[in-house]
Amino acid sequence: MYSVKILDAGTPARVSEQLVTLEIDGVEVTVPAGTSVMRAATDAGVRVPKLCATDMLESFGSCRLCLVEIEGRKGYPASCTTLVEPGMKVRTQTPKLANLRRGVMELYISDHPLDCLTCPANGNCELQEMAGVVGLREVRYGYEGANHLKSEKDTSNPYFTFDPTKCIVCSRCVRACEEVQGTFALTVDSRGFASVIAAGPTNFLASECVSCGACVQACPTSTLMEKSIIDNGQPDHSEVTTCAYCGVGCSFRAEMKGTEVVRMVPNKDGKANHGHSCVKGRFAWGYATHPDRIRVPMIRKKITDPWREVSWDEAINYAASEFKRLQKTYGRDSVGGITSSRCTNEETYLVQKLVRAAFGNNNVDTCARVCHSPTGYGLKATLGESAGTQDFDSVLKADVIMVIGANPTDGHPVFASQMKRRLREGAKLIVVDPRRIDIVRQPHVQAAYHLKLLPGTNVAVINALAHVVVTEGLLKEDYIRERCDLKEYEKWKAFIVQPHNSPEAMEAMTGVPAAEVRGAARLYASAPNAAIYYGLGVTEHSQGSTMVIGIANLAMATGNIGREGVGVNPLRGQNNVQGSCDMGSFPHELPGYRHVSDPAVRAQFETAWGVQLQAEPGLRIPNMFDASIDGSFKGLYVQGEDVAQSDPDTQHVTAALEGLECLVVQDIFLNETAKFAHVFLPGSSFLEKDGTFTNAERRVSRVRKVMPPLAGLADWEATVALSNALGYPMHYDHPSQIMDEIAQLTPTFHGVSFEKIDRLGSIQWPCNVKAPEGTPVMHVDEFVRGKGRFVITEYVPTEERTTREYPLILTTGRILSQYNVGAQTRRTANVVWHDEDRFEIHPHDAEQRGIKEGDWVGIKSRAGETVMRAMLTERMQPGVVYTTFHHPFSGANVVTTDNSDWATNCPEYKVTAVQVSRVAQPSEWQRKFTAFTHLQDKLLSEREREKA
Ligand code: SF4
Ligand code: SF4
Ligand code: SF4
Ligand code: FES
Repeated sequence: MYSVKILDAGTPARVSEQLVTLEIDGVEVTVPAGTSVMRAATDAGVRVPKLCATDMLESFGSCRLCLVEIEGRKGYPASCTTLVEPGMKVRTQTPKLANLRRGVMELYISDHPLDCLTCPANGNCELQEMAGVVGLREVRYGYEGANHLKSEKDTSNPYFTFDPTKCIVCSRCVRACEEVQGTFALTVDSRGFASVIAAGPTNFLASECVSCGACVQACPTSTLMEKSIIDNGQPDHSEVTTCAYCGVGCSFRAEMKGTEVVRMVPNKDGKANHGHSCVKGRFAWGYATHPDRIRVPMIRKKITDPWREVSWDEAINYAASEFKRLQKTYGRDSVGGITSSRCTNEETYLVQKLVRAAFGNNNVDTCARVCHSPTGYGLKATLGESAGTQDFDSVLKADVIMVIGANPTDGHPVFASQMKRRLREGAKLIVVDPRRIDIVRQPHVQAAYHLKLLPGTNVAVINALAHVVVTEGLLKEDYIRERCDLKEYEKWKAFIVQPHNSPEAMEAMTGVPAAEVRGAARLYASAPNAAIYYGLGVTEHSQGSTMVIGIANLAMATGNIGREGVGVNPLRGQNNVQGSCDMGSFPHELPGYRHVSDPAVRAQFETAWGVQLQAEPGLRIPNMFDASIDGSFKGLYVQGEDVAQSDPDTQHVTAALEGLECLVVQDIFLNETAKFAHVFLPGSSFLEKDGTFTNAERRVSRVRKVMPPLAGLADWEATVALSNALGYPMHYDHPSQIMDEIAQLTPTFHGVSFEKIDRLGSIQWPCNVKAPEGTPVMHVDEFVRGKGRFVITEYVPTEERTTREYPLILTTGRILSQYNVGAQTRRTANVVWHDEDRFEIHPHDAEQRGIKEGDWVGIKSRAGETVMRAMLTERMQPGVVYTTFHHPFSGANVVTTDNSDWATNCPEYKVTAVQVSRVAQPSEWQRKFTAFTHLQDKLLSEREREKA
């Protein structure tokens, strides 16, 4: 039987400059001070039996199986809790130890059902393995005495079960929940023999559990067991790959039975996650084989026609002939493409190449436009590189952590666990967010400051923080003198000290008491290491780029860039937002963020691609929509993106899609955008292809094909076919060749190859001659642009104002169990936690409007109106309301407006003035949406009938 023998050294690794040499079973071994005898033994090639210890957790010393003898010491100390000492002589195998261990095992087994052969963990159970290791052949006590063999199984969690009859109360699960995940959902109830593991008062589903799977991973028996393993049996092989959900980029072992995934196990060697996971990557992969997957290409003339299933050749040739017809009729610039932050780097690169080389224009954009484009702009302008400065591990060296406009426990859960670990160790937390997000107060975590600002006033707050730093003499003058452009700095300083930037002057606008801003500024500026982590609450504003610049200014002013523990760190939403930007998805930039107007850059690509490239930037997504409505933009190729649900002002977007004569959508499901399409190319999930994703810390990791593409072609193969049909030949045998081309043409990727990633596990770009193994921390000796550049950040209030007609501000965000437009997570058991978007409102605002918990409320803005169910919560401040946007019927983006960031057009999702009232029926938009959805479902099912 396949068995994943991942070495478990028993206790975590220690880092120390002091080394200790000792002898274990006659073998000399040298380890860092602070290492346990058990781990040292592992290093010496000696395996000490163990049950309660695992190298993911601090040792606990409860099972007494790992006893050893130490020369000169009395008794039999537990090797997992005993630390190495110089000259120690340890014996792990003696007749006495063998006897003691057998006795311990006998006690465990006497309270354990002897059903190994039918147990789902059979062959992968540490208890079973240890019984063999200690040579236990029989149990003398019988099973008649007191035991737990009749306890009831908890099956409430959709993904795993808890079977107390198998529990040995080693508390690995409890400790995993505390130490690894930081949720503290589990306890050991009672004492001694009566001890039981408890998840909340009733069961796992009703508890605080966030279903991360850390306890399941830690459990040495089948007590906590994945339902997928119970249903399908143990895997027969595995492959290491990367999660396709968020920008943390967790590494997983996809465990397979034939071509079917039976379990995703977080990879201990994964440098972004170190063996941890969240509910999405760990459990919510069932969408990949969901019956809704479209497996055959389809075409239709009009969006009111039924779909016709066709061969790949016919679909590709039809799409190509349509694009050619449109360009001939309406001009070269009448068509364009949208790349996806969910697809691989290689696929994204190909789509932008197709647009530039085969369409012959620069009308390419990406969904990163609507999330992190201001990050690219702001960080490039100040630091010289459009990416975060640190690796995730850097947070473990931070003394003060400032989280701005991000909700890491929901959006970036595995990184949040790492952050919480650092906070439990004593680092201080500042949260800047309109809403009381979970991390403000969690078990053993309490923010020192929560600056509860009004949405839209970020820049006022960052300026006020910087004002305090400058006027109170908290600047790092030496750092600035050495590392920054002093002329620009002086201009900025003169600006920021102006009284209108003071916390007192800003208080009325931001809603944040000046004293709190002053306190937070002092805390941040006086820390040895202070790090900023931010999300879409920073970027999705009319001043998104200004705010990113303001963050970089503050970090430079306090010397907090260029070493571990500090930095400016955008938390990227989707798995490959960083990568899609790196790969040249923006209309003004070729791969590596190089402007299309630069003749030298263009010449390089023209030589490699054998075409002439346009020198002017093409259309951004909102420009494409406007041009479609104007009638000058007619054809669009959308890969893995759902603009009809994700982009703001839905009615404007759908009007634009209706204006297209040829919309080609490549996706795994018939998403909202595809309902307006003329050609549907079935996409491939991350399990069906090779490639790479780049996470929020610039880490390029491999995505590996574990099953064949359900529709026959991987996404990159379909793009190649389309390009060939358009008359621009592309030929690649494998995505590694695409990466080789990317590396050749992109300076920050010169040293990247599949071979090197396979060898190193992952690589953080820049990776080139100067940094052949990548760059965990950027701007170490100097900024990428040379001298760091301070830029003036005048606060300009958004035009989206509250009025008597629209008195509340709506802001939006994500929830842990769902992912973006929900196309994937809605097709998994994650709906048990979030089956509809809820509209969060402060009880005071609700009471004024006669709204009660669960009431249907109409939400009306200048852009449109929708209806959702209300949730009354004091998380919200009065005057501010909130919703998630994972379900299309909610129409969250029917309400958001087309206001956008001045520099990048990133939509201002986070500020919409609305009025709210109790209603009895869906909005007009929702009624139209339902009718259109029914029509499209019918047209899809008619396709199926035709096929039958
Ligand atoms: S559930 Fe598993 S990990 Fe938790 S105490 Fe029981 S055996 Fe140990
Ligand atoms: S799944 Fe995660 S959150 Fe839930 S009990 Fe286990 S470790 Fe804790
Ligand atoms: S944190 Fe993000 S990358 Fe990691 S498992 Fe969860 S969704 Fe996947
Ligand atoms: S493994 Fe050391 S006491 Fe359990």
